[in-house]
Amino acid sequence: LRWQIEGRMDRIAIIGGSSLSGSIPISGAKNSAIKLMAASLLTDEPLRLTNMPRLADTRFLGRLLARLGASVDEREGEAGSETILHTPEILGAIAPYDLVRQMRASFNVLGPLVARTGQAKVSLPGGCTIGARPVDLHLKALEALGASIDMHEGYVYAQAPRGLRGAEIVFPFVSVGATEHALLAAVLADGQTVLRNSACEPEIVDLAECLISMGANISGAGTTDIVIEGVRRLNGATHAVIPDRIETGAYACAAAMAGGDVTLTNTRADIVQSLLDKMVEAGVQIDSVGAAIRVRRGEGRLKAVDLTTEVYPGFPTDLQAPFMALMTMADGESRIRETIFENRFMHVPELTRLGADISVSGGEAVVHGVDSLNGAEVMATDLRASVSLIIAALAAKGETVVNRVYHLDRGFERLEDKLSACGANIRRIRGEAREGHE
Ligand code: UD1
Repeated sequence: LRWQIEGRMDRIAIIGGSSLSGSIPISGAKNSAIKLMAASLLTDEPLRLTNMPRLADTRFLGRLLARLGASVDEREGEAGSETILHTPEILGAIAPYDLVRQMRASFNVLGPLVARTGQAKVSLPGGCTIGARPVDLHLKALEALGASIDMHEGYVYAQAPRGLRGAEIVFPFVSVGATEHALLAAVLADGQTVLRNSACEPEIVDLAECLISMGANISGAGTTDIVIEGVRRLNGATHAVIPDRIETGAYACAAAMAGGDVTLTNTRADIVQSLLDKMVEAGVQIDSVGAAIRVRRGEGRLKAVDLTTEVYPGFPTDLQAPFMALMTMADGESRIRETIFENRFMHVPELTRLGADISVSGGEAVVHGVDSLNGAEVMATDLRASVSLIIAALAAKGETVVNRVYHLDRGFERLEDKLSACGANIRRIRGEAREGHE
C-alpha cells in the first residue's frame, strides 16, 4: 500500500500526571469554516470570514478554491485570523481527485459550482476512514433541484444549463453534509425549495446566517424544515465563524481527565450542552458564563456514565472518542453506543495499548474503568481518535508518544501550545517531510 504524507511525520509526546489550570481559547469551527469557504463560490464579490481556524483542512480547501479561480487572502485581523475569499470568475468548474481526496468536505464545491455556472466536474471524495460515507443524498438533492448527474471514472459530472430550480426535498435520514450541500445549491435556484428532515447542527445555522448576509432568503435553519426562496445573485459579506464545539468538547474532556481548573474561552455552552450534561453526571464541575465554560475536577474518580451518539442536539459522534478516553479511568462500567457512523471505534485498540479495558461488540463499546493507564507508543488513526489518545495520555503514567499526528492537525489548531499553556507536559517531535510506503 502506497501512502502519501501531507507535510511532516510529526509525533506528539506527553508525560502524563500534571493537572491543568488556566484558560484555552477555542478556535472557529472547522466543520463550519469549510462550508463557508465553499459558499464564497456563490458570489463574484469578496466574502470575509473572521474567527477562522488555521488548519490543514482549511488549507486544502483554499488550494482547491484557488484552482477554481478564487483569491484566498489569509490575514491576522484585530479579532484574530481571517480569510478573504474572492472569485470574480470561475476559471474551470473542475475539482480534481488530488485535491478532493485529501478532504471529504471539498466535495461541497459541487453545489455552488453548478448553481453559479450551470455545470461542474468534481471528484468523488476520500476523507476519514470511518464507515462507507457515501454521498448519495447529496447527489439526489442536486438532482431534485434539476441538475443532471453522471458518474464515470471517479468523477461526478453535474449539468444544469438553464439553472437550478426550487423543489421539495425530503431527506430519508438526517445528514449534515447533504443538508448543507442542498442549502448551498438552492440559494441561487429559481423559486422555492423546502428541505425536510434536515440536520439541525449549529454549523447549519452558521452557514444559513452567512448566506443570509450574502443576500439569500432562508428561514427555518436549525429546525428540520428549511425554506429557501431562491435569489438571482448573492453579494459579498463579512461573517464570523461559529466556535468549534468539537474542540470545545475535546478540551473539556482533557481538563476533566487531567484534573484541575480550566476555562474555555471564545465558545458557547449551548452548542455542547449534551456533553456538559454527561460530564456533570460523571462528577465534573461545569460553570458557564457568556462565552466561557469553566471545567473543574477535584480529587477522586469520576463516575462511569452511558451514552449514545445522536444527531444534534443529542450527543455528537465526534465527541464519542474523547468521552470514551475520559471513561477509561472512571469508576464502574460505561456503555457507549455509536449510531451515526459504522467503524468509529478505531481508537479502542490504541486506548487499550495504554491499559484501558474496553470491549466492542457491533455498535457498542463497554468500558470498564481502570485505576491507572500507562504511557505507550500509539498511532492516531483518524481525527477524532487521535485527540482521544492525547486526552488519555494526559492521565497516563509515564510517556505516551502519539504517531501520525497529521490526522490531529487536520482539525486542531496548535493543540500542544494550548495544552502546554495550562501546564500539560506535551511537546511536538518534528519529523521529516517525505513520502513513504507501508
Ligand atoms: C459531518 C461532520 C462530521 C460529523 C458528522 C455527523 C463535516 C465536515 N463533518 O459529516 O465531523 O461526524 O457530520 O455529525 O461537517 N450518509 C449517507 N449518504 C449521504 C450522506 C451521508 O448514507 O449522502 C450517511 C453517512 O455515511 C453517515 C450518516 O449518513 O452514516 C450521517 O452522515 P452526515 O451527517 O452526512 O455526516 P457528514 O456531513 O459527512
